[in-house]
Amino acid sequence: MAKFDIKTYLKDKRELVDSYLESYFATPSLPSVLHEAMRYSLFAGGKRIRPILALASYEACGRDPNDIIPQAAALELIHTYSLIHDDLPAMDNDDLRRGKPTNHKVFGEAMAILAGDALLTEAFSMMTNTNPPSPPSVASRTDFTKGGNTEVRASFTKGRDNNMEPFAKGEMGGLSGENSPPPTPPPSRGRDRVGGASDMKIKPSALMRVIRDIAISAGACGMVGGQAQDILSENTKPDIDTLHFIHLHKTAALITASVRMGPILADSDEDTLKALTSYGKNTGLAFQIIDDILDVEGNTKELGKSSGSDKKKKKMTYPSLFRIEGSRQKAHDLISEAINILRIFSSKADPLREIARYLIKRRS
Ligand code: IPE
Ligand code: IPE
Ligand code: MG
Ligand code: MG
Ligand code: MG
Repeated sequence: MAKFDIKTYLKDKRELVDSYLESYFATPSLPSVLHEAMRYSLFAGGKRIRPILALASYEACGRDPNDIIPQAAALELIHTYSLIHDDLPAMDNDDLRRGKPTNHKVFGEAMAILAGDALLTEAFSMMTNTNPPSPPSVASRTDFTKGGNTEVRASFTKGRDNNMEPFAKGEMGGLSGENSPPPTPPPSRGRDRVGGASDMKIKPSALMRVIRDIAISAGACGMVGGQAQDILSENTKPDIDTLHFIHLHKTAALITASVRMGPILADSDEDTLKALTSYGKNTGLAFQIIDDILDVEGNTKELGKSSGSDKKKKKMTYPSLFRIEGSRQKAHDLISEAINILRIFSSKADPLREIARYLIKRRS
């Protein structure tokens, strides 16, 4: 069998996610500057590592990643919102992101805040984009509210939910300028790109569990809590407990939820979920340690964001407590542990194994 090539895997999966996002955000919404601001950061580049982790962990559970593209892609909306807000003057005050001026530099602070808000909320709309083509069948609606084992047919091929249409079309009165061009209908090409995913079935109960998992990991008890502690800890003496709290929450929480999406949507057993949760936590913590190291050692051009930003803001980082060598060792240990946890999985988990190895070597 041909050797697994992580570069090709990452590229293929990134393209899969990007083409779904492209078709989802092809239809302009009003005001157009908000739509532009959302698209600006979303399509500025980015590794798409969180959606890819979700797809890879679903694959590790023996399922076809094409089944869960909307749910995986939604993770990128949450992540992109967090980057836009993270760069704001009141937060890290950075000027460069994904190789381009930061969102607030182009659209102003108010629009950047709102673009972030919109991406976060849109993520949950995207994740639940499982209505059959309109009109939704009574059966599927009833099945969903019962929350039992009945399956909802996923319509991954559509752009935004039908319920968005009155807003998009400006039919709610006064939302559309008189001379606005009519919005372009959702392209049908998305249908082909996601490769027959409209036939896929996801258990409503599994989707509900994923949504709750992601909401918790992105909120005050997860990413936002970590971001708050990150800000509170600027200019303070580093200590391991606070550092660990910051990194586990601001970064590892969403990465762990991304990995957990796979086994939850695949309806895997609790042991599988437990193992993949540990993999996610270890890689998530390692991910932020590498990010800290790259902030010291990386170059702005390769990173697409300004190196030295942490030192300028006197952030509490791994290098600030353990220096570069100690931080690198810690990241290596976490990645080795993550790969070790996968020993109970077949070769179907090779993408997860190789992603972990890639994360330690990454230069951006
Ligand atoms: C950067 O995340 C912010 C952190 C949580 C460390 P990524 O390194 O995944 O950024 P993109 O998405 O590739 O730009
Ligand atoms: C941010 O951490 C984590 C987020 C939740 C966005 P950083 O502040 O270190 O991320 P970068 O280095 O700006 O990408
Ligand atoms: Mg930050
Ligand atoms: Mg930052
Ligand atoms: Mg950083």
